[in-house]
Amino acid sequence: MTITTVGVVGGGLMGSGIAEVCASAGLRTRLAEINDDALTAARARIQRSLDRGRTSGKLTDARVANILGQLEFTTDREQFRDCDIVVEAIREHLGEKQEMFADLDRIVPGHAILATNTSALPIIDIASATRHPERVVGTHFFNPAPVMKLLELVRSVATDDATMAGARGFGEVLGKRMITAQDRAGFIVNLLLIPFLTQAVRMHEAGFASREDIDDGMRLGCGHPMGPLELLDHVGLDTTLSVCEALHAEYAKEDYAPPPVLRRMVSAGWLGKKSGRGFYTYASDGTRR
Ligand SMILES: NC(=O)c1ccc[n+]([C@@H]2O[C@H](COP(=O)([O-])OP(=O)(O)OC[C@H]3O[C@@H](n4cnc5c(N)ncnc54)[C@H](O)[C@@H]3O)[C@@H](O)[C@H]2O)c1
Repeated sequence: MTITTVGVVGGGLMGSGIAEVCASAGLRTRLAEINDDALTAARARIQRSLDRGRTSGKLTDARVANILGQLEFTTDREQFRDCDIVVEAIREHLGEKQEMFADLDRIVPGHAILATNTSALPIIDIASATRHPERVVGTHFFNPAPVMKLLELVRSVATDDATMAGARGFGEVLGKRMITAQDRAGFIVNLLLIPFLTQAVRMHEAGFASREDIDDGMRLGCGHPMGPLELLDHVGLDTTLSVCEALHAEYAKEDYAPPPVLRRMVSAGWLGKKSGRGFYTYASDGTRR
C-alpha cells in the first residue's frame, strides 16, 4: 500500500512531533486537535521545533516552508476521510482511545491503517472498539519524535499481515529504525525503562540522594543523555503514571507500581516540563530554572 496522506489525532508532545516527522517525509499530513487553543499550541510546538532546526543550520528557510506546506491543522477529524493511515496520540487513557478508534473506524476509508502511539495499553483492547481490529496496529514513537530514530511496531492478535506491511512501509518512508514487539503492556522499551525510572523516584523520595546527584550519576556514570528524573519531566509525569498503572495491571509486580509521590505530583498538576514543574521547574520556553 502506498501512503501519501496521514492523519494525526492529538497534537501534544508526541502528536506534534509525529506530524512534523510525517510532513518532513513529504506526506500530506492532517493534524487534528480537540479545540482551537490546543490546535494553536500544537502549531506553535511544530514551529518552534522547525525554528530550532533552522537556527542550528539543519533546515533552510525553503525546507521549513516546504514542511509547513505539507501540514494542515483542524479540529474536525472528518477531514481524515481520505487518509491512508491515522496515528492516534491522545492521552494515555483506554476509554478515550477506544472512543476515538470507534469514531476513526467510521471515518477513514476501507484500506486505511489505524495506528496508536500508546506507550503501554494493550493494542487489542483499543482495536476491539472498532469493527475492523485487523487494521489496528501499535506505532510507538519516541520523544522527541523528529529526533529519536526508533519506532516500535506492535502487532495485536488480530492485526493482519497487510496492516503490518503497511505500518512497516510507513516507518521506512519516515526513515525510522523499527523493532517489533508483542502486544504486552510496555512492549520492549517501557518494560525495561519504567522500573529504572520509578526506582530513581523512590531513591529521591527516600532522601537517599539529591535529584541532581541521581541524574548526574546516570548521565556521567552511564553515559545516559538525561538522568532519570530529568527524563521523567521530559516524558510527562501523567504519561509515566498511566504507563506504570498499565504495567502494574498487566504483571502485578511491585517493580511496576507507581511510587506514591508520582501520583501526588500528578494530582498537584506537576506534570513535568509541559506544565512548568515536575522534579525541576521550567521557564515558559522549556529551559530549566
Ligand atoms: N510523552 C512521551 O514521551 C511519550 C512517548 C511515547 C508515547 N507516548 C504516548 O503518546 C500519547 C500522547 O502522549 P503525549 O505525551 O503527547 O500527551 P499530551 O498530553 O502532551 O498530548 C495529548 C494531546 O491530545 C489532545 N487530545 C485529547 N483528546 C483529544 C481528542 N478527542 N481529539 C483530538 N485531540 C485530543 C490533547 O489536547 C493533547 O494536546 C499517549 O498515549 C502516550 O502514552 C508518550
